[in-house]
Amino acid sequence: MEYSPPLFPKLLFLLIIIIAAVLHHSTARPLPLFAATSYPKQALPIKSGYLTVNPTTGSSIFYTFYEAQNPHKNASKISQTPILIWLQGGPGCSSMIANLYELGPWIVNQNLSLEPNSGSWNNLFGLLFLDNPIGTGFSIAASPQEIPRNQNDVAKHLYIAIKEFIALDESFKTRPIYITGESYAGKYIPAIGYHILTENQCLPRGKRVNLGGVAIGNGLTDPEIQVATHGVNAYNLGLINEKQKALLEELQFEAVGFVKSGNWSEATNARTNVLNALTNMTGLATLGSESLVFEVCSDVVGDALKDDVMKSVRYMVEFLVKKSVKVLLYQGQCDLRDGVVSTLAWVKKMEWEGIERFLKAERKVWRVDGKLAGYVQRWESLSHAVVMNAGHLVPTDQGVNSQVMIQDWVLERGSFAGEETQDIQLKGSV
Ligand SMILES: *[C@@H]1O[C@H](CO)[C@@H](O)[C@H](O)[C@H]1NC(C)=O
Ligand SMILES: *[C@@H]1O[C@H](CO)[C@@H](O)[C@H](O)[C@H]1NC(C)=O
Ligand SMILES: *[C@@H]1O[C@H](CO)[C@@H](O)[C@H](O)[C@H]1NC(C)=O
Ligand SMILES: *[C@@H]1O[C@H](CO)[C@@H](O)[C@H](O)[C@H]1NC(C)=O
Repeated sequence: MEYSPPLFPKLLFLLIIIIAAVLHHSTARPLPLFAATSYPKQALPIKSGYLTVNPTTGSSIFYTFYEAQNPHKNASKISQTPILIWLQGGPGCSSMIANLYELGPWIVNQNLSLEPNSGSWNNLFGLLFLDNPIGTGFSIAASPQEIPRNQNDVAKHLYIAIKEFIALDESFKTRPIYITGESYAGKYIPAIGYHILTENQCLPRGKRVNLGGVAIGNGLTDPEIQVATHGVNAYNLGLINEKQKALLEELQFEAVGFVKSGNWSEATNARTNVLNALTNMTGLATLGSESLVFEVCSDVVGDALKDDVMKSVRYMVEFLVKKSVKVLLYQGQCDLRDGVVSTLAWVKKMEWEGIERFLKAERKVWRVDGKLAGYVQRWESLSHAVVMNAGHLVPTDQGVNSQVMIQDWVLERGSFAGEETQDIQLKGSV
């Protein structure tokens, strides 16, 4: 599994309570309320419920929407306030993990109560969590056969759901939409961005989805290239020795071989072997309790997308960047799964006329309140950010810094300010 949140067992119970409260508040299909009294009123989303992707069968995507807490003073009109959509990875993990454990307005603390999240991503922007694809979290798949098995089908459902969400409120129609998420969502995010652009081309201006950009956190996007980077990355970090590196590289080679021969399910298994071996060798990235992961992430969805895991969507990212859609790729610097080396390995192979200039653009030191937060590199529509002292789940590890990052990127200020005129200093040879 691509995404294994380090949750502890008691949290599952809490998740159930909280999700029950959220559902109770939702307009459609309320579930029995377990313990709403323990759920602070201010923590409830302003809207939640179901977006029907197939009216015939009833398959639906569950959503939870939080309005901006302090809409940007500039965007005094809510109709201009951006909306971030969050997609969880997995495949098959609920976005409620991000809501309650990473970037929602209220998060679960050490003693299992809720507290306001100072790093919440809905500070300036609206924040919409989707349980994607159907069959994930509280989303409903009428039958397992209806669960998408490839990114085009994932995107088709997501597109219907997003259009339906936008239709819920007049003000949503004009608000810029930013698609965000992490890990295996590194496949979903380019796919829905690509799909929106393609649909927009055939629609009159007023009916288009106002796509502002896409942001991929610690993403799996071009697996064939990414799976081949684990050994050298861990070795250079001093986490494994040469013998272990050689062993990992053998396993990586197997995974790449299965990709090349189009044996997709074996390629997915082979990648799991690589990650398990890496975990074993380093003692890091330990997985949460399997039973818990089972509850929060759907095995049925994982199985449905098993043949999809190792397929690249890099061409979709290239398409977005070429069409001048803002793309942000960010990684926690300590992530051993889909980290910096893994991402830059495919970025440098991008087919895009701006790639050389991106690779030569200055990598700026990024500070938040005077403290080192990471590094940012940008050329035109493509931005790359490295977040210090963070692993696979950046918002969990660096709440406030991740909030600053997403805000500055959307608003193109601070480290993400455009500098097209003064970039490109070819600073000697490499
Ligand atoms: C908001 O920002 C835009 C672009 O920076 C600017 O053109 C506009 O005048 C601002 N609006 C207000 C109300 O400050
Ligand atoms: C729970 O932990 C938070 C800090 O993480 C603390 O502020 C709060 O008082 C604690 N609550 C209880 C009931 O211990
Ligand atoms: C995939 O590889 C496995 C293991 O080598 C093999 O048993 C299986 O027949 C292959 N499947 C296809 C479709 O090539
Ligand atoms: C790690 O690898 C060693 C050596 O192959 C093996 O004996 C051990 O069982 C593995 N541990 C885990 C947790 O997989």
